[in-house]
Amino acid sequence: METKRIKCKAAVAYGPKQSLCVEDIYVNPPKNGEIRVQIIGSSICRSDLHIIDTNIANDFTFPLIMGHEGSGIVESVGPDVTDIKIGDHVIPLWIPNCMKCKLCNSNKTNFCQKGTQETMNVMPDGTTRFWTMDEKPIYKSIGCAAFSEYTVMPIESVIVINKNVNLEKVCLIGCCVVTGYGNVVNVAKVEKDSSVAVFGLGAIGLAVILAAKECGAKRIIGVDVNEDKFSVANNFGCNEFVNPMKLPKGFHSIQQLFQSYGGLDYTFECIGSVSVIQTAFESLNRWGICVVVGLPPKGEEVSINPWNLLTGQKLTGSFYGGYKPREGIQYLVDKYMRGDLNLDLFITNKIKLQDINNGFDLMRNGKTIRTVIVFDK
Ligand SMILES: NC(=O)c1ccc[n+]([C@@H]2O[C@H](COP(=O)([O-])OP(=O)(O)OC[C@H]3O[C@@H](n4cnc5c(N)ncnc54)[C@H](O)[C@@H]3O)[C@@H](O)[C@H]2O)c1
Ligand SMILES: [Zn+2]
Ligand SMILES: [Zn+2]
Repeated sequence: METKRIKCKAAVAYGPKQSLCVEDIYVNPPKNGEIRVQIIGSSICRSDLHIIDTNIANDFTFPLIMGHEGSGIVESVGPDVTDIKIGDHVIPLWIPNCMKCKLCNSNKTNFCQKGTQETMNVMPDGTTRFWTMDEKPIYKSIGCAAFSEYTVMPIESVIVINKNVNLEKVCLIGCCVVTGYGNVVNVAKVEKDSSVAVFGLGAIGLAVILAAKECGAKRIIGVDVNEDKFSVANNFGCNEFVNPMKLPKGFHSIQQLFQSYGGLDYTFECIGSVSVIQTAFESLNRWGICVVVGLPPKGEEVSINPWNLLTGQKLTGSFYGGYKPREGIQYLVDKYMRGDLNLDLFITNKIKLQDINNGFDLMRNGKTIRTVIVFDK
């Protein structure tokens, strides 16, 4: 059966600091080693906003289609694709996981040799499958282009999941849940009865809290400038809150407050601010671990006192929560299917693709945890 070019709607970013244009585009058929996916659920992550709102934009070629926290159904497959079938349910990966290369076979990294800055923007053969109505190329950002009714993915960058899961919910597992959860269990390896501070109570920070609670952390302190986030974090297991703008009397910094507790075992920066990374590091006790999860603006640097490293404190971080993408997503989809992962707690808004700019504004204004774009079927 011949696979044709599809005309569909997508949210196209024409440049940094501009609203997205929801318009008709063409999506070309998948080539060898590729599949075309009808997107069913797609949620907005702060990293999408960073791409148009901060200097991370410099790493990408515009116009582009964002969206990397998605899920969908395989609509067609490339001529040589046999492992994935039309109708399979999939989650796109923003870091490929080919399972064959040196990196995929190493237990020391979750990167794949097929993942390069270029494949964030284009297909592995260096070309794009997205075209404007007047035949100009459109690129991807972060490899997925899930803010489109259809996308094309290389097979090393998708995981096939069980057909019985709700695609409008499991899209969240593809970024925020796997990232937050994995940073707790793989990177920090949070221990029972420990103390944890989570800086930034967006979906990533909340997934950190969820996992820290499961690991048996005793004290889970949420830090956010937006006090609306405190009641949400409480539902995830956070039992103390600090607004850095309203410190208790006698304290002039968060780190001073946390040092008055004896320092913390684990701190997680889930914002993307170098000054908060520094604060989170300086809040540790002697053996504490600070995990960088947020994406700071490119080029900014953190200043730390190396004596703190000499005395045993650690500063670390990861993408995908340190999971091999397939492993982490599979684990969390299974957990969701068993009823042990409540994704509803993260989903505060549902919108249509045409309203995506409102979804971005909700996040900019601190009025959402996760906004899911629900596509017309
Ligand atoms: N490492 C990874 O693999 C990975 C994956 C996904 C997202 N991220 C990054 O994680 C970060 C969080 O993403 P999100 O979607 O949860 O974002 P979000 O915008 O929903 O949440 C961020 C929270 O931080 C709070 N905040 C902002 N500045 C603050 C400050 N100075 N002090 C205290 N709180 C502050 C905000 O009020 C908000 O509640 C982003 O930088 C995102 O790009 C990283
Ligand atoms: Zn993300
Ligand atoms: Zn690989």
